[in-house]
Amino acid sequence: MASDGELRIGAIGDLHCPRVSLDELQSLFTQVAECSDVVLLCGDITDYGKAEEARLLVAALPVLKGIPVVAVLGNHDYESGDAETITQILERQGIHVLDGTSTEIGGVEFVGVKGFAGGFGDRLLQSWGESALKQFVRESVEEALKLESALAKLRTAHRIVLLHYAPIIETVIGEAPEIIPFLGTSRLEDPINRYGTTAVFHGHAHHGTVEGCTQTGIPVYNVALPLLRRQRAQHPPFRAITLKLTKSAETA
Ligand SMILES: [Fe+2]
Ligand SMILES: [Fe+2]
Repeated sequence: MASDGELRIGAIGDLHCPRVSLDELQSLFTQVAECSDVVLLCGDITDYGKAEEARLLVAALPVLKGIPVVAVLGNHDYESGDAETITQILERQGIHVLDGTSTEIGGVEFVGVKGFAGGFGDRLLQSWGESALKQFVRESVEEALKLESALAKLRTAHRIVLLHYAPIIETVIGEAPEIIPFLGTSRLEDPINRYGTTAVFHGHAHHGTVEGCTQTGIPVYNVALPLLRRQRAQHPPFRAITLKLTKSAETA
């Protein structure tokens, strides 16, 4: 359980069940449970968005012994056109699946949205030209608006943002330059900065960089499992952060 004045967060993304087997999940969750008061799943929980893949994830949940789990879906969870069923399977087992919504745990608000692509900074894709391109940009804008609207309602001192797509370019560096605009968008960074978020966790960029920060210095952690396995091989394959309720500090 959380100690007075702190909350321990264990975060991981891109499990892509069944790329991670039940045995591997149970072993991973056992390690997470040892040092977490809340567990974050940053999307791509399933590989093809199939119900049986989501059931594999929930089969490993007893290992967490009731530690709250907060999740957002990723693009892979939408692949079979039935994200609603994936969400229901997860929620029935008590997972908080966020989509422009928030949940409070231990005095900290967790806000989540999948996010979308669109590029970064002055190379941000703009809504101009063909209707298909405008629709693409609209999706990106709407995800950012959902995040902004959820953040605007919060009054707690600490709020943690969960995303699947990246809000800054720094944590996607390492990926092939050709695909960087498809890995996230700085449209997601604007509300994060404006509402004074404590920390951000995302996945999706399997070949990116494990951490960076927004233009206002908010820490951003890329917790995609394949990336953590590669770049933080000396650590357990998840990110553990202890949130001091006055400030945040990384512990492992
Ligand atoms: Fe992924
Ligand atoms: Fe993804």
